[in-house]
Amino acid sequence: MDMGLWATTCILYPAACSMQPETSNLKSIANYLNSMKTIDIKTDSKVSKILIGEKLQNLAGYLPPGKAMIITDENILKYYGDALPAFPVIVMGQGEKSKTLETLHEIFDMLLKYEADRSTFIIGIGGGIVCDVAGFAASVYMRGLRFGFVSTTLLSQVDASVGGKNGVNFRRYKNMIGAFSQPEFVICDGKMLATLDPVEFRAGFAEVVKAAAISNTSLFEYLENNHEAALEMEDAILEKIVYESVRIKAGIVEKDEKETGERRKLNFGHTFAHTIENLTDMLHGEAVSVGMVFAARLSERLGFLDGKGVIRIEELLRNFRLPVALNLDADKVINAMKKDKKREGDAIHVVMLDRIGHAFTREIEYKQLEELLYDLR
Ligand SMILES: NC(=O)c1ccc[n+]([C@@H]2O[C@H](COP(=O)([O-])OP(=O)(O)OC[C@H]3O[C@@H](n4cnc5c(N)ncnc54)[C@H](O)[C@@H]3O)[C@@H](O)[C@H]2O)c1
Ligand SMILES: [Zn+2]
Repeated sequence: MDMGLWATTCILYPAACSMQPETSNLKSIANYLNSMKTIDIKTDSKVSKILIGEKLQNLAGYLPPGKAMIITDENILKYYGDALPAFPVIVMGQGEKSKTLETLHEIFDMLLKYEADRSTFIIGIGGGIVCDVAGFAASVYMRGLRFGFVSTTLLSQVDASVGGKNGVNFRRYKNMIGAFSQPEFVICDGKMLATLDPVEFRAGFAEVVKAAAISNTSLFEYLENNHEAALEMEDAILEKIVYESVRIKAGIVEKDEKETGERRKLNFGHTFAHTIENLTDMLHGEAVSVGMVFAARLSERLGFLDGKGVIRIEELLRNFRLPVALNLDADKVINAMKKDKKREGDAIHVVMLDRIGHAFTREIEYKQLEELLYDLR
């Protein structure tokens, strides 16, 4: 197959369209998967099951009888194509440039072509980009189809695939068009992380550090003591880290699914990260790393966090080989931030820390933020 032709969304395995894979019995899966841990996220709309330590090979056992379609990208197909259940596969492009309305349009064309209807189950298999796009496509096609994910990057296992936020970028705005809609299940198969590019793997730790920094001192300390083993993918350590991060996110999402208060804490570092992503080629996780250092310094400057707290955050991110500073002109950052400002008028919500393990949101006048950022230069 000529990979060069796959510039955008395309479909594979159409012959398998009507085939239903042999489904395994849920109970028998549970019996031999002693190490698998499940976290239920209970919201008004549904229960979303996060299956940590489950295997891609057992995916079929979680699907309802009937039609399904897979949305994934080329990398997943390259490494795991043979392990996918026999359903039609929509292959979307990679990177933020593919997280667009155009990609959605192409996916809807494919769903129409393969006669997806309200009974079709959508399976997103990939990192945060595939899950964000597949989740949104499933949420709006015919006013919503059932869907679930196999989450294949560290970043998406600990954060992106969990919690029901999905969507696409619009113009220069990240995640501007989207919905809140929970996947029925998320399979987090730790073994799949072995094929990740090491840079992508490390980027995932930014969201882990975020989860710890905003609400769990003991996870933060655990990371301080175990970062090398985590980077070396020691199974037990990595699984604990994924489990604890998901538990933190699940707790927050259950309290505030639609992000009217508590959930905003998960945006620690993100106000700056989104601007950084617009200005550089940094991965999302790398930009979040720099953004968290920025937010921690801001917290210190405003008298909430002590200097030691800032140093611990910087050091931990460095230990995960993540960037902690930007080689960018501060004026450029500030101008871009002004342009990126979405809907908050003259003030924006910035998530700050008053200690490691505790975050709060403060509305800051844009003008004051600008002064503080100049000061921090
Ligand atoms: N919805 C949310 O709550 C939420 C939260 C955090 C981040 N996000 C979004 O997630 C996105 C970033 O996600 P990401 O970091 O997973 O990046 P990604 O989805 O771009 O994946 C990174 C790269 O790794 C490849 N890949 C994925 N799994 C692989 C595997 N197992 N083996 C080999 N290669 C693999 C992909 O093809 C891609 O090239 C951003 O767009 C961000 O906005 C969303
Ligand atoms: Zn993020």
